[in-house]
Amino acid sequence: MLLSTWVLATLLTRASALATSNNKFFKRQNGTGYELKTGPLDTDWTAQVGTDPWPMYPRPQLERSDWKNLNGVWRYQNISKAEYDSPTFNLDSPQGVLVPFCLESALSGIMGSWLIYSAYETTFEIPADWSKDNRVLLNFGAVDYKAVVYVNRKKVGEEHVGGYFEFTHDITSFLQSGSNELHVYVYDPTDMDRVQIPLGKQSLHKDHIFYVPCSGIWQTVWLESAPKEYITNFHMDADMDGKVNITIGSSGNGSSPVEVTVYELDSDEAKATGSGTTGTAFQFTVDSPKLWSPKSPTLYNLTIKLGDDEVKSYTGFRTVSQAVVDGIPRPLLNGEFIFWMGTLDQGFWPDGIYLAPTYDAMVYDLQKLQDIGYNMLRKHIKVEPALFYYAADKMGIMLIQDMPSLRTRVPKADAKCGESQPVKDTESQLEFNRELEVMIKQQRNYPSIVAWVIYNEGWGQADQPPWPEFELTNVVKSLDPTRLVDSVTGWFDHGAGDFHDNHKYANPQCGTPYYSTPSTPYDGKRIGFQGEFGGIGHNVSVANLWKDPWAIDHINQTYEIDADLDAWNYRAHVLLSELLGQVERYACSGAVWTQTTDVEGEVNGMLTYDRRILRPNLDQWNNDLNALYKAAAARTNGTAMMMPRAETFDGM
Ligand SMILES: *[C@@H]1O[C@H](CO)[C@@H](O)[C@H](O)[C@H]1NC(C)=O
Ligand SMILES: *[C@@H]1O[C@H](CO)[C@@H](O)[C@H](O)[C@H]1NC(C)=O
Ligand SMILES: *[C@@H]1O[C@H](CO)[C@@H](O)[C@H](O)[C@H]1NC(C)=O
Ligand SMILES: *[C@@H]1O[C@H](CO)[C@@H](O)[C@H](O)[C@H]1NC(C)=O
Ligand SMILES: *[C@@H]1O[C@H](CO)[C@@H](O)[C@H](O)[C@H]1NC(C)=O
Ligand SMILES: *[C@@H]1O[C@H](CO)[C@@H](O)[C@H](O)[C@H]1NC(C)=O
Ligand SMILES: *[C@@H]1O[C@H](CO)[C@@H](O)[C@H](O)[C@H]1NC(C)=O
Ligand SMILES: *[C@@H]1O[C@H](CO)[C@@H](O)[C@H](O)[C@H]1NC(C)=O
Repeated sequence: MLLSTWVLATLLTRASALATSNNKFFKRQNGTGYELKTGPLDTDWTAQVGTDPWPMYPRPQLERSDWKNLNGVWRYQNISKAEYDSPTFNLDSPQGVLVPFCLESALSGIMGSWLIYSAYETTFEIPADWSKDNRVLLNFGAVDYKAVVYVNRKKVGEEHVGGYFEFTHDITSFLQSGSNELHVYVYDPTDMDRVQIPLGKQSLHKDHIFYVPCSGIWQTVWLESAPKEYITNFHMDADMDGKVNITIGSSGNGSSPVEVTVYELDSDEAKATGSGTTGTAFQFTVDSPKLWSPKSPTLYNLTIKLGDDEVKSYTGFRTVSQAVVDGIPRPLLNGEFIFWMGTLDQGFWPDGIYLAPTYDAMVYDLQKLQDIGYNMLRKHIKVEPALFYYAADKMGIMLIQDMPSLRTRVPKADAKCGESQPVKDTESQLEFNRELEVMIKQQRNYPSIVAWVIYNEGWGQADQPPWPEFELTNVVKSLDPTRLVDSVTGWFDHGAGDFHDNHKYANPQCGTPYYSTPSTPYDGKRIGFQGEFGGIGHNVSVANLWKDPWAIDHINQTYEIDADLDAWNYRAHVLLSELLGQVERYACSGAVWTQTTDVEGEVNGMLTYDRRILRPNLDQWNNDLNALYKAAAARTNGTAMMMPRAETFDGM
């Protein structure tokens, strides 16, 4: 049960009408029926969301001018499997839902639990000034987990599978003049029964390190107008020598001429142009581009033209590689080793669950990480909206992107109480492999992403040879030879990929000859990395806690609890000093501190779950992280790569 008795009590006293809501009540509410729910915890942004959430263009890498945001209040109803399979479109008791917040969130106005089959309904009109000769595209940023879309009660394409990915339907032939009806039918089993799908940290079952799941639409829904033949996607590498390699996909059948223009910085003058045909890679060179790095995250504006279709985009020029530098395998950015220091970033929000309440809220987390002195984050078993990557690109935060994991273990078919096993069935493995490819293809244009993760701590990783990570590492490398692959972060490392990546709480063991099971001693062959450490906790008052009694009761499962912030900062200093020793003495090239924020009963964030308390003593942390960058640079005779904003850093 998501809705705790505490919350229920609050709801009942605050708004008895709400707690006993029914169809009539919802219809009385401005005809929309949407009301923000009081969740177990809010943020300073919750009340700012209103009914026009996430209003900006959602996909800055492929931006069209004629577009219409469909976010806002829609109607929602819990439905049966039969209705999902053969819709009657008879939503007889709908509730108002704020799209694009998932159905478990307070911001959605539903705040439900165990929502397996769902129907969404809204209406829209096509703007009168859109060219009648154009196609109308209906885009979804992400819908968890399966989605079938109907316009004017006709199915507009195949069921979309995968909770983290953008998809588009050309709905032109289904439109009528005036108002059009839109239905989205959703199936999201999360981890019910023996279901085994990529889902990351979502769970229907309470667990200290797994959280409230996200069902249904959870990213922006929008329409756009595009010519008959239009750009569907592109794949672009832009390296430190200014070499561009780009492949542009189109809705057309053959190869059509396309043109790419890279603009001078802060100018509408072309710096370089390249041309070729759709569906075939072509190359051109940009003269002495200013490079992208955390210190100087330069982005260039682009336009891509295919006939009458013109989209705006951007890129950053940089090269990620690896080399043995002064005897140690190192990750390189633009030919230089810089220490990667980041947090484990879950991307959960108390009010929006899987989606930040606003863009500013999302950027706030990133800004705080930079203020502390981090230059990287590990996006943990979740894929974010395109605007998250855009923010990281602009701010110069390197990203390690995890594939959303399968559930850790699945109950055995003939399970006696509690018996479970890691993934065994071919179908789940094949779907994981397929979605991994989709993730790489959709995310590979972001300059901020420097590495991919395939498996986290053995979750969903087969426990017998042939180890799936070897084949999958090859797949990832062939789809994207321009980045590093961290095949297995934590636990069951069989030697695949570019990293020897250890997880250890609280003390790090980064590139060291000492280790704790199930880790292994540093192998000397790959980049020595600490994929998780730290995790020390500090309890806060109930005002800043996720007010679910179960979560509060399990706070003591946090790896370590420090009685006050002074103790917490002291312990952090000890752990960071230990990491410093490993950078100076052993082969440590980067580390991930757990974690960006508290989540539910985990109280180990830089920030509390509501983002209202920042735990680090900034001077101390700036000094400690700066010492890591300097120590790493000293070992390779390079220059230290400091963060741009924290003025207290020396050696910039
Ligand atoms: C009703 O409309 C008013 C005014 O537009 C708005 O402030 C309020 O949030 C709306 N309430 C709901 C439930 O939509
Ligand atoms: C949703 O509908 C199904 C099928 O009608 C029903 O079994 C289930 O209890 C409903 N769930 C909720 C949360 O209302
Ligand atoms: C350009 O990218 C394509 C894949 O998109 C790849 O097959 C090709 O080898 C690349 N060419 C160069 C010159 O890097
Ligand atoms: C591609 O070919 C199909 C079938 O011949 C046709 O219906 C469609 O309009 C063509 N698409 C474009 C963009 O030319
Ligand atoms: C890119 O274009 C936008 C307008 O679309 C402009 O605001 C921005 O300054 C440009 N960026 C650069 C680096 O030129
Ligand atoms: C810690 O949590 C457990 C439940 O997991 C509970 O039984 C125990 O009383 C708690 N201890 C403290 C000190 O809060
Ligand atoms: C954490 O703080 C909350 C709120 O004061 C309290 O209820 C809970 O028992 C505390 N848990 C631990 C483990 O300190
Ligand atoms: C870096 O410095 C070390 C120790 O001073 C020295 O042995 C090594 O040759 C230097 N490496 C480079 C590439 O200059």
